[in-house]
Amino acid sequence: MTDNNGLDPEFLRTIGGQRVLVRSDLNVPLDGTTITDDGRIRASVPTIRALAEAGARVVVTAHLGRPKGEPDPAYSLGPVAVRLAELLGAPVAFATDTVGASAQEVVAALGDGQVALLENVRFNAGETSKDDAERGAFADQLAGLADAFVSDGFGVVHRKQASVYDVAQRLPHTMGALVAAEIDVLRRLTDDPARPYAVVLGGSKVSDKLGVIDNLLGKADKLLIGGGMVFTFLKADGLEVGKSLLEEDQLDTVRAYRARAAELGVEILVPTDIVVADSFGDEASARVVPATEIPADALGLDIGPESAAAFAAALADARTVFWNGPMGVFEQLAFAEGTRAVAKALTAIDGLSVVGGGDSAAAVRTLGFDEAAFGHISTGGGASLEYLEGKDLPGITVLED
Ligand code: 3PG
Repeated sequence: MTDNNGLDPEFLRTIGGQRVLVRSDLNVPLDGTTITDDGRIRASVPTIRALAEAGARVVVTAHLGRPKGEPDPAYSLGPVAVRLAELLGAPVAFATDTVGASAQEVVAALGDGQVALLENVRFNAGETSKDDAERGAFADQLAGLADAFVSDGFGVVHRKQASVYDVAQRLPHTMGALVAAEIDVLRRLTDDPARPYAVVLGGSKVSDKLGVIDNLLGKADKLLIGGGMVFTFLKADGLEVGKSLLEEDQLDTVRAYRARAAELGVEILVPTDIVVADSFGDEASARVVPATEIPADALGLDIGPESAAAFAAALADARTVFWNGPMGVFEQLAFAEGTRAVAKALTAIDGLSVVGGGDSAAAVRTLGFDEAAFGHISTGGGASLEYLEGKDLPGITVLED
C-alpha cells in the first residue's frame, strides 16, 4: 500500500541527523493490553522506517482512543510501542509523557536512525482544544522536540488538532508515504471513477453518513445499504423494524434521498431479508426473516443470505467500489455473513476496490481475508468519508501552505 517513494526524496536527502516528529495514526483496537488488529501500526511502518534509514532521529506522536485530556492508563500507547518495535525489527524508546521530562529525555538520547514513541498525545488537553491559543501552546511544545514534521496519520487528517494541524505551521513539513497513498486512492474515487461505480455503506447510524450519501448520490451509480442504518431506510419505506436501531429523526432525510436517487437514476439497494435475534448479540436466537416481517420483539443484526447474494450480484459488474461500514455485528459469527459476502465480492472486482474505515478494515482482517485481494484498505474512517463528502481536510490543506 505504501512505499518509500511516497516521501519527498529531497526531504529524505536532507534529514540525516535531524529530529523528525512524525504524526502517525496508531489508534488500534485493544482488548485490555492486547492489540486485536495491528493494521494501522503496520501501515505506519514504511514512513518511520524510511526516515530512520535516512538517518533521522524519529519521534513518533499518536493518539489512542478518546481520553479526556489527561493521562489515563487504559489509553496508554505502551502496548503499541512494543508492537511497533517488533514490526520495525528495531528498538522503540517509549516516553511516558507527551512533551514533558520523559519525552525530552528520550528525544535527547536518540541516535541517528533511532525511533521513539511519545505517550498518547491526547493525554494533553491542548491536543484537541477548540481554543487556538491553547492548541498552539501545546503545538509549540511538540515542535520544540523536533527540527521537522512528517504528517502520516491519515486517520486524523480531518481533525484540526495540535499534532495534526498546528505543528505543521511551526516546522518544515512534508506528507508521509501513507497519507500520500491514501489521498491518491481517494482522488481516483472522486476524479472520473471507472463505471459502474458502486458504494456500499454500513455501520450503525445514517446520521454519520449523511454528508457522504448526499455527495455520492450525484456521483455513484449504485448505493448498497447495510448495517444498523438499514432499519431507518426500511422504516422510511413503510416497513416495521421491531426493536432494531432506528433514527426516527432521519426518516424524512432518507425519503428525500430516495426521491433524489430516483430522479438521478441512482439505484439504492436495501436488504430483502434480515438476520434478527431476541436481543443484541444473542446468537442462539439468530434467525432469518423477510425484511417485510421483522417481529415486533426482535432486532436486526445482519443482512440475510438472500440480500448478501443480491449485494454480491450487484457488485459483480462494478469497476469502482467504495465500501465503508460492516453489514452486521460481524464480531459474532451468527451476524458476520453479510459482511463476509460484501468483502468477498470486493475481492473479485475487476477494477478499483477500496475498503474505507477502521471497522470495515478490521472486519476484512478479522474474517481472514487476504489484504492483498483488495485494491486498497484505508486506515481512515472519518477522514476518507469527509474527503468523499468534498470537505477540506485541515491536516492536508495545512501541508499545502
Ligand atoms: C479513527 O479511529 O478514525 C482515527 O484514529 C481518528 O480517531 P478520532 O475519531 O477519535 O479522532
